[in-house]
Amino acid sequence: MADKDGNKVAKNYRTDVEFGRNGGFHVKGMEDVDWGMKSRLSKIFQPESGNTVMLAFDHGYFMGSTAGLERLDLAMPPLIPHVDVLMATRGALRSCISPQYNKGIALRCSAGSSMMDDDLSHEVIAVDIDDAIRMNASCMAIQTFIGAPGEKSSIENLCKTIDAGNRYGIPTLGVVAVGKDMERTPAFFKLATRMLAEFGAQIIKTYYCDDFEEITAACPVPIVVAGGKKVTEKDALTMAYLSMQGGARGLDMGRNIFQSDCPVGMAKAIGAIVHNNANVNDAYDLYREEKGV
Ligand code: R5P
Repeated sequence: MADKDGNKVAKNYRTDVEFGRNGGFHVKGMEDVDWGMKSRLSKIFQPESGNTVMLAFDHGYFMGSTAGLERLDLAMPPLIPHVDVLMATRGALRSCISPQYNKGIALRCSAGSSMMDDDLSHEVIAVDIDDAIRMNASCMAIQTFIGAPGEKSSIENLCKTIDAGNRYGIPTLGVVAVGKDMERTPAFFKLATRMLAEFGAQIIKTYYCDDFEEITAACPVPIVVAGGKKVTEKDALTMAYLSMQGGARGLDMGRNIFQSDCPVGMAKAIGAIVHNNANVNDAYDLYREEKGV
């Protein structure tokens, strides 16, 4: 192992230079994966824009029922036409969501603690690859806890899932977790996103932060940005806009959509930023229009 004490600080990210391996496939770093994996990636990242809007409603996997998700069967269907991918547990999908929607599926595949635990970093692989195939998953989402007590086992979960996914052509979405005592600095996100990509995750989910363009430049696979806790609609749209300007290839947003006073308006507004290059004001107008104000 390299001597970490002698490590020079990385700084030459060349954020003004495009990713070097661009052979025509629209998903960063995925030029040489197999046909089936490319097909699944294309269900996530729309070929026209290269980007994705994921609707995250997997929160019940450790929170149970939460505000906005009390009735998945009622709350989700109006939103689904406006997003590309549904990020959810197999239980929620099988019980509440019709397969006729034909959307990409980011299947929540790790679990292991509940919001009653102080330390949420101890998870296991909670879905067998056979069932991910049966669910027609477009990707399998695994939480990783870099710098937390459960770091090693979460890396093991991620690597085992990547191995299984590679066998069957299913991408793995490596999720960078941030616990209450965990860092949220650019240095932390740079470390975590790059580690997950080096392990072989085909997509990385993380949070927006300062110097975001350096994080996306140093990550050789696409980054999608998590929404995080509910903020004002304008602030959420601003974060989405800055993420895309900083090189993200999409948003994986939950509470800032389903806890909004106009969830459909927010889904449409995020879609305009992600796919149509809308600015914050234009996107906010879409939200207000849908809200009828
Ligand atoms: C984390 O991985 C969670 O399960 C959610 O998928 C994620 O936090 C995105 O949802 P939100 O936008 O509400 O943070």
